[in-house]
Amino acid sequence: MSRSLDLPSYLDQSKGVADRFEKLRNRPVKLKVEDLGKKFNTPKGEILALNKINLQIHRREFITVIGPSGCGKTTLIRILAGLDFPTSGKVLLEGRKMEGPGAERGMVFQDYTLFPWLSVKKNVMFGPEIKGLGTLKAEAEAMEWLEMVGLAKFADAYPGQLSGGMKQRVAIARSLANRPEILFLDEPFGALDAQTRSSMQAYLLKIWQNVDVTVFFVTHDLDEAVYLSDRILVLRANPGEIDELIEVPVPRPRDPGQFLTPEFLATKKRLEELIRPPESAQNEGIPMIRLTELGDEVE
Ligand SMILES: Nc1ncnc2c1ncn2[C@@H]1O[C@H](COP(=O)(O)OP(=O)(O)O)[C@@H](O)[C@H]1O
Ligand SMILES: [Mg+2]
Repeated sequence: MSRSLDLPSYLDQSKGVADRFEKLRNRPVKLKVEDLGKKFNTPKGEILALNKINLQIHRREFITVIGPSGCGKTTLIRILAGLDFPTSGKVLLEGRKMEGPGAERGMVFQDYTLFPWLSVKKNVMFGPEIKGLGTLKAEAEAMEWLEMVGLAKFADAYPGQLSGGMKQRVAIARSLANRPEILFLDEPFGALDAQTRSSMQAYLLKIWQNVDVTVFFVTHDLDEAVYLSDRILVLRANPGEIDELIEVPVPRPRDPGQFLTPEFLATKKRLEELIRPPESAQNEGIPMIRLTELGDEVE
């Protein structure tokens, strides 16, 4: 890493940022995680996927989980969304013990989960119609959400006719049409190219600014985590435990110009320190392969 810049500490917060966190902490607790653990029994033995996770998520917070592959990100988001159960500890939703999924929680996965036989609009109308909203109302609602994700023009198209980024925007619109209080997204942009990914990030920030929703986001992209989040939960693997919970010192509203600000880079550097294995472990067990006889040491 050739960054010789004198970066501030990621712990330094400007007055504006500190005030924002103070306000955030005073908002009602939406989701509380107490001593949560998850064991899997596998043919190879027991896996402690999550261990002693404690966490409070406040209303309208944007919280992101990051960590190496296998550290339990998906397990955690599935449990919080009610799709799986912990083996110890508990999850409280506004103070009540959570049992199973519920309409107040929506989930968006990495692989597109739209109904291919329904038009874009019908996909988004699906939830509101199930809730008993009449067709006309459901349609009006669907169009509003499609407007927000920039896809109103594609209301009558079918998922198969859309690009990956567009499908994922429909998936987000469909989730939001159920009016969830918490939106869970598990590496939603992981399959997209860099350019599409950054426009998706802009859409998500716009949505989060305009909709009263708490966002729980999983990614393994450090820039994405810093750019989007209020706080970043860093997990380590085996067992999956909290390594650090970082308050992102980058002011809001966010814009791509902030990627190179000192506070952005300082936060990213901290994430790199936490997530990257130490230098010695990186090279372990990889022998040098010589393709020439030159014998000079280039590295
Ligand atoms: N259904 C399951 N059965 C057995 N082991 C599982 C199951 N789901 C996840 N695991 C294990 O739990 C650990 C965490 O997995 P996961 O939550 O998918 O990690 P991540 O999303 O961070 O990559 C891994 O070791 C994984 O193999
Ligand atoms: Mg995962």
